[in-house]
Amino acid sequence: MAGGLYVLALQNHTERDRIRQASVDLTPGCQEKLQRYGLAAGEHYASPYIGKTLARGYREEDVRAIQRGCNIIDDLQGHLAKDGASSRWNATRFLRSSQTTCDHCHQGIGDKQDAAGNRQIGSNHLGASWVMADMYDRFTGLLLTYELRQMQCYINSSNGFKPNAADDLMRDVTAYSRFLSGALDLKIGRRYPEQGIDEIPASATLKRGDDYIRGAHLFRQKCAQCHGPQGLGTKVEGKVLFPAVAGPDAYSVDSRMNFAMVNSVMPGFICRNMPPGQEGSLDNEQCRDIAYYIGTLPRPAGDRQGPLVAAWQQLMMTVMPPLTRYAELWGRNDPQREAD
Ligand code: HEC
Ligand code: HEC
Repeated sequence: MAGGLYVLALQNHTERDRIRQASVDLTPGCQEKLQRYGLAAGEHYASPYIGKTLARGYREEDVRAIQRGCNIIDDLQGHLAKDGASSRWNATRFLRSSQTTCDHCHQGIGDKQDAAGNRQIGSNHLGASWVMADMYDRFTGLLLTYELRQMQCYINSSNGFKPNAADDLMRDVTAYSRFLSGALDLKIGRRYPEQGIDEIPASATLKRGDDYIRGAHLFRQKCAQCHGPQGLGTKVEGKVLFPAVAGPDAYSVDSRMNFAMVNSVMPGFICRNMPPGQEGSLDNEQCRDIAYYIGTLPRPAGDRQGPLVAAWQQLMMTVMPPLTRYAELWGRNDPQREAD
C-alpha cells in the first residue's frame, strides 16, 4: 500500500517536472500581452512599456513560469488549451464552477489598460497587488501574503477550494504578477490606484438609499443581453462568452463581489468595468442599485456558511430561475423581452 502510494507520488512528481520543462502554448491574449512587454530570457530584461532595462533578467524557466501564470489568469480552466486543464496544473480540481476564470474580474489578464496604454483605476491589477507584499486585510484582520490573497479568490470569488500555498498554480501566478510589476516599474510597498477595486460606499451617492427595483430595471436594460436575464451567463459551444453573475457558476455568497457581503466592492467593479466598451457610463447610484439587485439573486453558499445555508441556496438556485421566468411572462408587455 505504502509502496503503491510512493510510486504514485513519484509519478506525479515526474509529471509536474515534465510540465515545468515543456514549452508553453500561450492563449491569444497572453501571446499579445507578453510580446508587447518583450518577455524573453536573458541576462537583462528591457521593458518597452517603460523604456528601461531592469537590473536582472529572466532565465528560461522563469519565462515559462510567467507564461503559464498568464495562461492561468486568462484561461484558468484550460478551455483554450490543447490539453485542457492539465496544462493549467489541473486548476479545475479547485473549482466548482465550469465558467470561472480570473480574467473575468481581474480584467486585461490582471493588467487592464485603455487603448493608449494607460492603466485603469480600480481594475484589480495583479502587478499593483503584488508590490503591496504583505497587505493588511480589513475583512479578516490579518496580514495576507500574495499567496493567501490568491487563495481567497479560489475559495469565494471562484467558488472553489484552496490550493496549497506552494502549488505551481499559485507560484506561476505570482511569477506573472511579479513580472507585470517589473515591466510597469511599480515600486515595492507603494499603493497604486489600479490596485483593488475603486469602491463606492453609500455615502458616495445622493443617499436616497439603494433600490432593488431600480436595479432590476437597469440590469435588464444594460446587462441582461450579455449576462442573461437571470444573470446565469452565456456559454456558446462550451466556451464562456459572458460569465455568470448569479447561480451555480457564479462567485459565492462570501465573495467580496457579493453586495450582501461587502456593499461597496461590486458597485465599484460595475462602475469602472461594465458594460465593456462603455465603462464609466453608469453613475454611482446606478451601480449601487444594480449591485444590490444582483446581490439578491441566488448563488452558492460560501466557506463560512453551514450545510443548512448551502442547502437553502441550492434550493433557491433550482427553483428561482423557472419561477422568475414564469412571473415575467405575466408582466410581459415589452416586445423586446420576448427574446429572453
Ligand atoms: C468573481 C470575481 C473574481 C474572480 C473570478 C477572481 N477574483 Fe481575485 N479578487 C476579486 C475581488 C473582488 C478582490 C478584492 C479586491 C479588494 O478587496 O479590493 C480580489 C482580490 C484578489 C487578489 C488580491 C488583490 C489585491 O490587491 O487585494 C489576488 C491576488 C487575486 N484576487 C487573485 C485571483 C486569482 C489568481 C483568480 C483566479 C483563480 C481570481 N483572483 C479570481 C474578484 C475576483
Ligand atoms: C457586451 C456584453 C456585456 C455587457 C452589456 C455587460 N457585461 Fe459584464 N461582463 C462581460 C464580459 C465579457 C465579462 C468578462 C470580462 C473579461 O473576461 O474581461 C464580464 C464580467 C462581469 C462581471 C465579473 C465576472 C463574474 O464572474 O462575476 C460582473 C460582476 C459583471 N460583468 C457585471 C455586469 C453588469 C452589472 C452589467 C450591466 C451594467 C454588465 N456586466 C454588462 C460582458 C458584458
